[in-house]
Amino acid sequence: MAIIAPSLLSANFLKLEQDCEMLNASEAEWFHLDVMDGRFVPNISFGLPVIAAIRKATKKVCDVHLMIEQPELYAQAFKDAGADVLTVHVEACRHLHRNIQQIKALGMKAGVALNPHTPISAIEEIIADVDLVCIMSVNPGFGGQKFIPATVAKIKQLKELITVKNSSALIEVDGGVTLENASSIVQAGADVLVAGNTVFASSSPIETIKQLKSIC
Ligand code: DX5
Ligand code: ZN
Repeated sequence: MAIIAPSLLSANFLKLEQDCEMLNASEAEWFHLDVMDGRFVPNISFGLPVIAAIRKATKKVCDVHLMIEQPELYAQAFKDAGADVLTVHVEACRHLHRNIQQIKALGMKAGVALNPHTPISAIEEIIADVDLVCIMSVNPGFGGQKFIPATVAKIKQLKELITVKNSSALIEVDGGVTLENASSIVQAGADVLVAGNTVFASSSPIETIKQLKSIC
């Protein structure tokens, strides 16, 4: 059964506490928190103070997805803000191995994210060290985009690599996940489904999470 990680990027920021309470009462296991710096991606979202506030509002796993340059400069700060999982982009890290070790040494689970153009082969040498691989199924930067169909084959390829290298990494799929495509994504091998628009734009987010959970 897949883990559901609603992305707070699509939450109502004026009513963030209510949205946190809704997620706390839901079947979602994780909170997915998207941090954008306006450099690595062409958008700016929220940062440390917002994550620290969300941390106080939930006991669930805070899964922080850094879409920022030089994430190594902020790993300690995200730990202090309450991140449980910290994911950096392979495209943003010149010294990915060092970055992953840094995150683990700080006591967080370490994730690596891949943009749609980045092949699975880019993480062959790091797969045994990471706790999670986030496959971007849209180009990062915005919620509510359309799922890129080629991602399904990429998930299968990653699953094979994880088996071959005896890695315990979870496969997370991020972007354009809907009630329609969720089951094919999980069948391909996904362990964690991020869903922003699908959850928060629905008339009953809690019911939508329940439906996602039942399909997966
Ligand atoms: C995109 C973010 C995603 C986004 C997903 O850059 O990393 O987590 O919030 O949103 P949906 O599910 O709406 O595509
Ligand atoms: Zn994300």
